Amino acid sequence: MKGATNPHTILAVETSCDETSAAVLRDGLVLSNVISSQEIHGTFGGVVPELASRAHMRLIVPVVEEALARAGVGRGDLTAVSATYGPGLAGSLLVGLSFAKALAYGLSIPFVGVNHLEGHLYSNWLGDRPPDRPFLALVVSGGHTMLVLVRSPFDYEVIGQTRDDAAGEAFDKVAKMFGLGYPGGPLIDRLAASGNPSAISFPRSHLEDGSHDFSFSGLKTSVLYYLRDHGNAKNDMADIAASFQQAVVDVLVDKTILAAEEYGVSEITIAGGVSANTLLRRQMTAEGERKGFNVKYPRMEFCMDNAAMIGYVSWLQLLNGKVSALTLNAEPNLVL
Ligand code: KG4
Ligand code: ZN
Repeated sequence: MKGATNPHTILAVETSCDETSAAVLRDGLVLSNVISSQEIHGTFGGVVPELASRAHMRLIVPVVEEALARAGVGRGDLTAVSATYGPGLAGSLLVGLSFAKALAYGLSIPFVGVNHLEGHLYSNWLGDRPPDRPFLALVVSGGHTMLVLVRSPFDYEVIGQTRDDAAGEAFDKVAKMFGLGYPGGPLIDRLAASGNPSAISFPRSHLEDGSHDFSFSGLKTSVLYYLRDHGNAKNDMADIAASFQQAVVDVLVDKTILAAEEYGVSEITIAGGVSANTLLRRQMTAEGERKGFNVKYPRMEFCMDNAAMIGYVSWLQLLNGKVSALTLNAEPNLVL
């Protein structure tokens, strides 16, 4: 392990989906975090994998150069390179992973492969150390909705996850029904601000008693039927968006608080793209305060996919003496 006089200076890259991101961290502190969101997918209402891979190919070097320049760090100052190796789109993952491995190889420095979900999980502790006490994490993004009990750093139990759509995916699909574009979450969030969340009573799926799993596909279908039965209800868009969002948030908050009570933790962290949602933050904080839980969120720039969270996890791994082989391959279906 390196001491304070010889700090870890890590370049991290993240290309698991449609964000090309690079970050530079020195001993866990973020010196730069550059995120280039691929706008091409907006036209299609969702991520087109081949276009995403090709955009990563084009962007990876300029994004890395920008991250190094903003950090005031040269390639020769780096002590390690890290990259997401899963889960995600295979072609997208391969771009960042191959780039990072080749750079580490060329510079003869360690390479660290990182699980994207661990990145989100620790995005609340960036610049700090994760606590040794247990906490409950709700990881809620376009690809995942899961409740994870973190007993101590790197000791997890996934206690619940979605059985169909991820919450972010439901936001994206409903936004597509509205013809709003992609990604849908921020657009619904904005539209819902002027709507009445009690206007339409959409279903809240809690599944069987005691289950910590989620299901959002029934809710998404209800919105589809509502639009069909009400002549696409263009006048009530804000009310529909607000009512849909309220249904998603009610389920996320209820299930998270119930699980926190059952597992006896005092702290709840929310992470992933949907953790940027205004109502989710407000309602989880209010409910957490009422029930005596401390609720934490990442800074906005660390909610969405970003390389800083990947660099942070790789730093924790380096502190534990963990490096990866240069034969590490992309694992699109990697789990926690
Ligand atoms: O973590 P992320 O950037 O990528 C994945 O790992 O999936 O999450 C992206 C997801 C998208 O589904 C997007 O619509 C959603 O996060 N999202 C939001 C908001 N901002 C992003 N959902 C609801 N409200 C938001 N403000
Ligand atoms: Zn993500």
